[in-house]
Amino acid sequence: MQASSRQVSSNQQGLHPRLAHTVRRHLQQPFRGPLAAHNEAAWQLLAGRLADDPRPLVLDSFCGTGMSTAALASAHPQHLVVGIDRSAHRLGLHPTHIEQPYLLLQAECEPLWRELVRAGRKVDFHYLLYPNPWPKARHLQRRIHGHPGFRDLLDLGGAVELRSNWALYIEEFGLAMHLAGIRGAVQAVPMGTPLTRFEAKYRASGHTLWRYRGCIR
Ligand SMILES: C[S@@+](CC[C@H](N)C(=O)[O-])C[C@H]1O[C@@H](n2cnc3c(N)ncnc32)[C@H](O)[C@@H]1O
Repeated sequence: MQASSRQVSSNQQGLHPRLAHTVRRHLQQPFRGPLAAHNEAAWQLLAGRLADDPRPLVLDSFCGTGMSTAALASAHPQHLVVGIDRSAHRLGLHPTHIEQPYLLLQAECEPLWRELVRAGRKVDFHYLLYPNPWPKARHLQRRIHGHPGFRDLLDLGGAVELRSNWALYIEEFGLAMHLAGIRGAVQAVPMGTPLTRFEAKYRASGHTLWRYRGCIR
């Protein structure tokens, strides 16, 4: 991959030196910790919906305003599409005057992944579109692949698509998936109608956008 990472400013040059160690440690240990009240409330909503809706799941983790969630619901009409974001402000920007054949939840993604895994749920598709890059080297554990919840993401299965304007983030994620035995491919996001607000913003700034696609069986 030849992309420049100048689009994102970081004190990290190249793959994080503790990436492999961190990923391996998290693969061996389940993600623990209490379920915060707002995540518990979101999980109860989701569990209730799952009990009523037998369709397979599509997750739109870190969905921001839910723009992509609406688009994905159109693209996957046979699925229940669930967008998750922790920001009430961003979710509050989602238009409410239209019918919503999807579910938007205000929560942290990682605890909800864990609850889904505990409930024995799998997903068919998992979109992770422009998560915060956390470019400072000391924030590795906040990146998806450096977080203890990475193991739950793997256990959820499905076709995974991660997009970022930071090539290194995509490379690290791809390496973490490889360490977990998952093969995938990295390529530039093709030009077209932006799927998310951030995608539109990055495109307007002339950024090169990258995606990782892999399938967890
Ligand atoms: C860069 S924005 C991208 C939003 C959207 N996917 C887009 O492309 O427009 C990252 C989003 O991740 C959300 N976020 C960050 N950490 C999160 C977490 N642990 N769980 C859920 N949402 C999180 C933020 O609130 C923010 O909306």
